[in-house]
Amino acid sequence: MAPYRQGKPAADDAFKLSSNENPFEPLPAVIEAIAQSQINRYPDGMATALRERLAERYGVTAGQIQVGAGSASVLSQLISAAAAPGDEVLYAWRSFEAYPGLVAVAGATSVHVPNTPDHRHDLVAMAAAVTDRTRLIIVCSPNNPTSTVVTRAEFEALMAEVPTDILVVLDEAYAEFVTDADAVDGSQLIGRYPNLVVLRTFSKAYGLAGLRIGYAVGPEYIMDAARATAIPLAVIDQAQRAAIASLEHESELLERVARLSVLRDEVYASLVAQGWPVPRPHGNFVWLPTGEHTSWAAEVLTANGIVSRALGEGLRVTIGEEASVEKLLKASQEVIERLRTTPSATTLD
Ligand SMILES: Cc1ncc(COP(=O)(O)O)c(C=O)c1O
Repeated sequence: MAPYRQGKPAADDAFKLSSNENPFEPLPAVIEAIAQSQINRYPDGMATALRERLAERYGVTAGQIQVGAGSASVLSQLISAAAAPGDEVLYAWRSFEAYPGLVAVAGATSVHVPNTPDHRHDLVAMAAAVTDRTRLIIVCSPNNPTSTVVTRAEFEALMAEVPTDILVVLDEAYAEFVTDADAVDGSQLIGRYPNLVVLRTFSKAYGLAGLRIGYAVGPEYIMDAARATAIPLAVIDQAQRAAIASLEHESELLERVARLSVLRDEVYASLVAQGWPVPRPHGNFVWLPTGEHTSWAAEVLTANGIVSRALGEGLRVTIGEEASVEKLLKASQEVIERLRTTPSATTLD
């Protein structure tokens, strides 16, 4: 197995746009909340206070919430609970690069369903790929790294097809950045299906990536199964306090998210104007389909002070500090011009 590879760090004068992080400083209230932790004590392993807050918000019981050290941890717990050797875990590809490793660790087999040519999940093909070995389906919306969304209608059609003894995880790590009214919104679907779990995180919109905290909302028996496979006490007290403080100051945080979403749409419009075949982005990142020219294109961005994430057939670039945009657009212009004038590099597939 290849180890999980993190986004590259950036030199002092460059922008790190390789890990879909939030560029804003933590709120003072979050810093104050963290300072109240007693680090000689273990954290509350059940994250009781946070689960109660989240339960209120989603109109469910605290038993229907599971909190983990990042939503990736909760996903790992769910995969370990649901799938074992001989079982299949189905998801679109390309998608979040942590999925293959988490599935392999559980001893299960990944089944990849290719995205459509416009970089979206093909939910009809995913439903058709279900076998009697499928235990879990992961749907990622907005999809990391292509930033495309699944529509509510597409998702509901998938749920109607999939037997209820197959767990469906809707990974919505970037939900707060979505402005498209037709996109699926897991928070509206909670309680509707006995096999649906919605995954959310404090890492992106709430800017707590460094503290590692995320959660799932779903039927209690499934959350209990996740709790059974979790490493005990992995969610630190600082993270729990910071998450609660973030919920208390949510409007300020969501105002920042709205600014990032506007910036994203502006970057998208500029890239389209430069001639890039970019899929319309819905997360806090854009996908440049550079095909076979990906490594070279990443180098051009790096030379312009932008650290991006090269992922096989494209570059994922986070919408970060406003000051990074000019450099990004200068670099993307340089790449597309060189592609147009290089005889061996005329297509962006
Ligand atoms: C689609 C998706 N899901 C889950 C995660 C995990 O986030 P975290 O573990 O920080 O909550 C990420 C992080 O990049 C992601 O892109």
